[in-house]
Amino acid sequence: MSTRRIMKFEIYRYDPDKDERPYMQKLEVELQPTDKMLLDALVRIKNDMDDSLALRRSCREGVCGSDAMNINGKNGLACTTNLNDLKEPVVLRPLPGLPVIRDLIVDMTHFFNQYHSVRPYLINDAPPPERERLQTPEAREELNGLYECILCACCSTSCPSFWWNPDKYVGPAGLLQAYRFLADSRDDATSSRLDNLNDPYRLFRCHTIMNCTDVCPKGLNPALAIGKIKEMLVRRAI
Ligand code: SF4
Ligand code: SF4
Ligand code: FES
Repeated sequence: MSTRRIMKFEIYRYDPDKDERPYMQKLEVELQPTDKMLLDALVRIKNDMDDSLALRRSCREGVCGSDAMNINGKNGLACTTNLNDLKEPVVLRPLPGLPVIRDLIVDMTHFFNQYHSVRPYLINDAPPPERERLQTPEAREELNGLYECILCACCSTSCPSFWWNPDKYVGPAGLLQAYRFLADSRDDATSSRLDNLNDPYRLFRCHTIMNCTDVCPKGLNPALAIGKIKEMLVRRAI
């Protein structure tokens, strides 16, 4: 029995050095039996059909976060998306709302600027103990669902508030990281972290539309974390 399998794709293409405007490239791709995930198909296209297609990828395990893209209208990771789950033609576009550098590669500058703006590291000015700073098991549990973020940007680039204000609104990925340190019993900077977010744009542009939580490939819930930061601010004001 033949294992030949053809899948139809439509892929956003744009090379600013040679294209006047973006266009959708239609392709019929002959898959091999080992091609299981969307990333396998994209590598197949690059290897066998058109090596000019530009995309980021690295781990192919859902860990590095680099192959995020818009897949049939929803953001996700190519390497963890099973080809069997996709309707044809499979329509691939770059992550929405960020400037396109080329094809499926976007400029992540705003995304990472916002991430860095929340100081995503432990702040504790007390002299370090001889061994590590300890936590109770309960305090450590508070970090579950927060530390696993792979910074793929699927959430922030599905958030309308981030599309319109990527320079002013931290966005769901950055805010999840902000809460990851606000929730850390070893961190001493709660007050200045909250001051930094207490702003009509940085935090309060979130209107709880929930797109972020809906698309996270790691099953995290940025909208819940944002709600908890808002709660901390309310409690502090009482
Ligand atoms: S819940 Fe907030 S962060 Fe998430 S998509 Fe909606 S507006 Fe954006
Ligand atoms: S919260 Fe989820 S979707 Fe957002 S950057 Fe982290 S892993 Fe990606
Ligand atoms: S290639 Fe690393 S997450 Fe997909």
